[in-house]
Amino acid sequence: MRSYRLIAPAKINLYLEIIADRPDGYHELAMILQSIELADQIDLHSLSGDNIIIHCDHPQVPADQSNLAYRAAELMARQFPAALGKYGGVEITIQKHIPVAAGLAGGSTDAAAVLVGMDLLWDLGLTQSELQELAATLGSDVPFCIVGGTAIATSRGEQLSPLPNLDPLYIVLAKYRSLEVSTAWAYKTYRQQFGSTYLQDTHSLADRANAVHSGAMVKAIVSQDPTAIAQQLHNDLERVVLPAHPQVSQLRELLATQPGVLGAMMSGSGPTVLAIVPSPQQAAAVKLQIQQLIRDQDLELFITQTTVQGIHLASTTHYPSG
Ligand code: C5P
Repeated sequence: MRSYRLIAPAKINLYLEIIADRPDGYHELAMILQSIELADQIDLHSLSGDNIIIHCDHPQVPADQSNLAYRAAELMARQFPAALGKYGGVEITIQKHIPVAAGLAGGSTDAAAVLVGMDLLWDLGLTQSELQELAATLGSDVPFCIVGGTAIATSRGEQLSPLPNLDPLYIVLAKYRSLEVSTAWAYKTYRQQFGSTYLQDTHSLADRANAVHSGAMVKAIVSQDPTAIAQQLHNDLERVVLPAHPQVSQLRELLATQPGVLGAMMSGSGPTVLAIVPSPQQAAAVKLQIQQLIRDQDLELFITQTTVQGIHLASTTHYPSG
C-alpha cells in the first residue's frame, strides 16, 4: 500500500479579458495564468470499503460534495469503478495555506491534486491530456492547476497554450480575511453591466483570442521583463469587484504606489490583490509598509514567487497492507 503527499500551488492571473457570452452560460475568456509557490498540501491514501473521506484544517472548507476536491474524488470513482473495487475508497487530508474564495484557485488546485493523486493511488497511468479532460468537467481553472507554470487560457479558461517558463517574479499578496467574493457573482454582475459590449460573431472572437497570443503581455513574458509584465497587468473583473468593495480598491491603490512595486492588480474574481516587486527584500519591505499603513488584524499578507510547477509529488510512503 502507498500514500501520496502532493503540493497544490495557487494561481494568479496576469491577464483576464472577458470577451463574450457562451451558449453554456459561461463566458468566453482570454487569460494568462501563472502558478505561485503559495500552495496547499494534500495527502491521499486508500481506505477499505468505497468511502470518500475529506479532512481539512480550515473551518470554511466543507468535507462534503460542496468541496470541489470531494467532487474530484467522486468523479474518479464514477469513471474508474474497477479501480475503486480493487483499491477501495480514499481518505484525503487537505492542509490549507491558500486563502479561500480569494481569486487564487485554491479549491480548483485541491481538486486537481485529488485527480493526480488518485491516478497514482489507483495505478491508472492517465496521460496529462486525459487528466485535463476530467479536470475541465470540474471547473474552468482545474486543467491549468494540473499543469501549472505560465499559460494562455482561452474558451472557458480550460483551453491552454503553454508559455515559456518565467524566471521567478516576486509577489506580495494582500487579502482581507473576512472578505470573500463569489466568482459566479462577479461574472453575473459583469454581464449585467457590460453584456451589451460583448462580441457577437465567432470570427471576431477568434481574432480577440489571437490578439492575446501576439499581445504585449506575452511579449513581456517571452522577454522575461518584470517591469513590462507589471505594466501589462489587466483584469476586466476589477470593473465590478472594486466598486463593490472599496477597501479592496484602496488596498490595490496603496500597493500600487509603494516604492519598489512594479504593478498591482486584483487576481481573478478577487478579492486578493497582487503586487509584483523586483526582489524578495523589496517584497518584505512592501509587506511591512502595508502592515504599518493599514493597521487591521483582518488583513493578511503573503510573500511568494512564481513557480514553473503545477501539481507535484512531495513524497510517497509505502506501508504494509492489511
Ligand atoms: O468554472 P468555475 O466553476 O470555476 O466557475 C465559477 C463560476 O464563474 C461559473 O459558475 C460561472 O458563473 C462563472 N464563469 C463564467 N465564465 C467562465 C468561468 C467562470 O461565467 N469562463
